[in-house]
Amino acid sequence: MSSRERSTITFQWHSLSEMERVATICAVLWCAPAVVLLEGDLGVGKTALVQAVLKLWGVRGRVKSPTFDLVHIYELTSTTVYHADLYRIRQAEELETLDLPEPLSHQVLLVEWGEWVRDWYPERWDAHLTRDPDGTRVLALRAHGRVPVQRMAEWGETAHANHWD
Ligand SMILES: Nc1ncnc2c1ncn2[C@@H]1O[C@H](COP(=O)(O)OP(=O)(O)OP(=O)(O)O)[C@@H](O)[C@H]1O
Ligand SMILES: [Mg+2]
Repeated sequence: MSSRERSTITFQWHSLSEMERVATICAVLWCAPAVVLLEGDLGVGKTALVQAVLKLWGVRGRVKSPTFDLVHIYELTSTTVYHADLYRIRQAEELETLDLPEPLSHQVLLVEWGEWVRDWYPERWDAHLTRDPDGTRVLALRAHGRVPVQRMAEWGETAHANHWD
């Protein structure tokens, strides 16, 4: 399902139900504090992955895409999750009106089309999604900074010990 090399892991899935397994790993790696920038073409499945992760974190009901509101906030028991979509941002000045947080210990920031804010967050996950011609989704998940790299390494050891990869 995955392969590891340094600070990048790749996952593949062929259906939304297969994606759920990947989401369980993301839900562990992306626990607070975390910033995740989701990149990939229109309709590739960024929101679908976020929806699956939020469900695992206990969000009930339908998670809508924040394409029009730009940011949706979910207050969970011990975590606040910001789900943003910056597709409609056309110039950097528009970002000033956005209330995106510094990643505090109890916060998670999941940003679709997050290239705009990459420089704000040296500690982050870059989640790059692509779709093969046969519909297979490929996620390249890259850790940047101390905490994400450490989590990735810990996960890698656990996965290796459990023969998950
Ligand atoms: N692995 C998959 N298998 C089948 N359908 C999928 C898969 N991933 C996503 N989809 C479906 O593709 C459609 C678009 O997905 P989604 O909205 O998650 O894309 P997105 O990358 O967030 O798009 P946008 O760039 O517009 O925000 C949805 O109907 C979703 O259910
Ligand atoms: Mg989306």
